[in-house]
Amino acid sequence: MNDIRALVLTEYGGPDSLKVSPVAPPVAGAGQVLVRVHAAGVNGLDWKLREGYVRDAFPLQLPTILGIELAGVVEAVGAGVTRLRTGDRVMGPLGGLGAYADLVAVNEANLSPVPDALDFVQAAALPLASVAAWKSLHLAGEIRSGQRILIQGAAGGLGGFAVQYAHQAGAVVYATARDSHSGYVRGLGADHVIAYDKEQFENLVSDIDLVLDYTGGDVLSRSWAVLAENGTIVSTASPDIAANTPVGRRGLWFQNTPDTARLQAIADDVVHGRLQSEVSAVVRLDELAAAIERNRTHPQRGKTVVRFSD
Ligand SMILES: NC(=O)c1ccc[n+]([C@@H]2O[C@H](COP(=O)([O-])OP(=O)(O)OC[C@H]3O[C@@H](n4cnc5c(N)ncnc54)[C@H](OP(=O)(O)O)[C@@H]3O)[C@@H](O)[C@H]2O)c1
Repeated sequence: MNDIRALVLTEYGGPDSLKVSPVAPPVAGAGQVLVRVHAAGVNGLDWKLREGYVRDAFPLQLPTILGIELAGVVEAVGAGVTRLRTGDRVMGPLGGLGAYADLVAVNEANLSPVPDALDFVQAAALPLASVAAWKSLHLAGEIRSGQRILIQGAAGGLGGFAVQYAHQAGAVVYATARDSHSGYVRGLGADHVIAYDKEQFENLVSDIDLVLDYTGGDVLSRSWAVLAENGTIVSTASPDIAANTPVGRRGLWFQNTPDTARLQAIADDVVHGRLQSEVSAVVRLDELAAAIERNRTHPQRGKTVVRFSD
């Protein structure tokens, strides 16, 4: 088979360290299917991997292909595959890297069917953020009706879903976003939006039962001040939260894992209008390196998706 296109990280660094290059096509191993990628979701993790910021948690063997979630069509099946067939429309997280390529070998267990009502761009926006937001809120955060929640990074991929889930769970939702994204976040169900580029959330919020930290760094350090005595911070952004949790406080790291049942339930909610999935930019493969950099400097609201097919 001929070489395929892929976005390859050649060395840690800036946008120039990502190149669209020809690579050998993968082969589906046992329990895997070969997916012809039609679209893949861009994530906040991409530029952190590119820069090498998270090389301790996610050491890479370079060169490597970035991309952690996709939607496409099954082109071939490996030994022992029982559920999926050639021609199936599928979506899912890889549980690893390599989604920014024309063809990807994926474990069958990670993939869910794409509902007929969703196109590949819509499907590629769902696998990671929607599930990670749901699990960090409900499983790690154990949100209950009436509780006060602060969502840091509410306009991003995870944040946009978490605001809706928290509102649906009956929580009082405080959310931070840049001023230009305030209306969007309010429209998703936030009761109070704090524009982080204009105001300090510590001056406006207190007695919070659950902080969802989708931002990390300084925002996480400052969040302890607004927590209720028995409150919890769940972070998806700072793997070292447990080591840095002040004595007597509760700080949890959340690491997402693929969950096909949850993803299918979420996709059903999107299809039936119970959940909004925002795709604010769709780019081509030759625009992807720039889109990953834009996600670092000026994040779009919701998700950016790269489309491989016309
Ligand atoms: N542990 C896991 O399993 C897991 C899974 C998925 C993602 N993650 C991590 O979770 C985090 C969120 O992911 P994502 O995909 O949602 O990222 P994203 O789409 O890039 O969103 C990040 C958001 O952070 C916001 N932000 C930046 N500075 C802020 C500040 N000072 N105060 C409040 N908000 C601020 C931005 O808001 P504006 O757009 O309004 O500027 C942006 O929308 C990332 O760190 C990612 O690496 C971890």
